[in-house]
Amino acid sequence: MSSAALAMNEEPQRAMRWVDLAPLEAVPLGQGRAFVLDDRTIAVFRQRDGRLYACDNQCPHRGGPLSEGILGAGTVICPLHSWKIRLEDGHCAAENASVRVYPITTVEGRIVVQMPGVD
Ligand code: FES
Repeated sequence: MSSAALAMNEEPQRAMRWVDLAPLEAVPLGQGRAFVLDDRTIAVFRQRDGRLYACDNQCPHRGGPLSEGILGAGTVICPLHSWKIRLEDGHCAAENASVRVYPITTVEGRIVVQMPGVD
């Protein structure tokens, strides 16, 4: 794949690392919050059943702040034009577009997310 094609489709592969983000309470149940990490802003969602999701905060449509969207059962609805994003894989089925998602978990009451490492 040429570097131009790579730039259009995805970022280059970089080693992944787990990053301590915040205490679990920083994201209230049923809501999302934005966090700045390195060169990106990610949205973290905490469903009412306790499940956590993380994805890029920028909507694939026109960059709306997904962390401010309406959180449903495994989905978020963008606050700008209502695209519905599936949080498990970042896919917006109606528009055939996607946002990047990140592995996320908790360790001793803190939110930890897996991110590409710094080169
Ligand atoms: S910016 Fe998200 S739907 Fe338009």
